[in-house]
Amino acid sequence: ILRSPHALQLTLALIKPDAVAHPLILEAVHQQILSNKFLIVRMRELLWRKEDCQRFYHEHEGRFFYQRLVEFMASGPIRAYILARQDAIQLWRKLMGPTRVFRARHIAPDSIRGSFGLTDTRNTTHGSDSAVSASREIAVFFPDFSEQRWYEEEEPQLR
Ligand code: TYD
Ligand code: MG
Repeated sequence: ILRSPHALQLTLALIKPDAVAHPLILEAVHQQILSNKFLIVRMRELLWRKEDCQRFYHEHEGRFFYQRLVEFMASGPIRAYILARQDAIQLWRKLMGPTRVFRARHIAPDSIRGSFGLTDTRNTTHGSDSAVSASREIAVFFPDFSEQRWYEEEEPQLR
């Protein structure tokens, strides 16, 4: 079995416009990050341009929800985090819950999307789905961040 040499894994998490717009939901999602012992490596708030959303979600181009998704993601401020933790990618996705709101509410009512998701598109959060997408997505939001350097400088002290 191949194992990552790192105890900590990085993931990109986004809080989407529906949740950033609502102070109580924003705070609740932030608390989920803290109470699940993620390290907040970087955090920023920004307003996305439509072209950036299109590039970020290019894998979904042509699907029925693509246009709606892109419009929504550019409709208001979002918050981006680099999170570090053991199994960060999988755990963050588990905390978010299923993509679609109906499934989220029925299968994982306590998840972030199950609690706060409004529709399949306005579903409060994003999380990278693999190590490869995490690297790509981290670079989109934090172009100056060097994963390599972070692991060299920070991770040994955190073990
Ligand atoms: P996807 O990558 O399938 O889900 P996830 O965010 O859980 O990784 O889809 C990306 C986003 O596209 C999703 O968060 C919301 C939007 N979307 C819809 O609006 N309708 C849909 O039916 C699906 C599958 C996704
Ligand atoms: Mg996805």
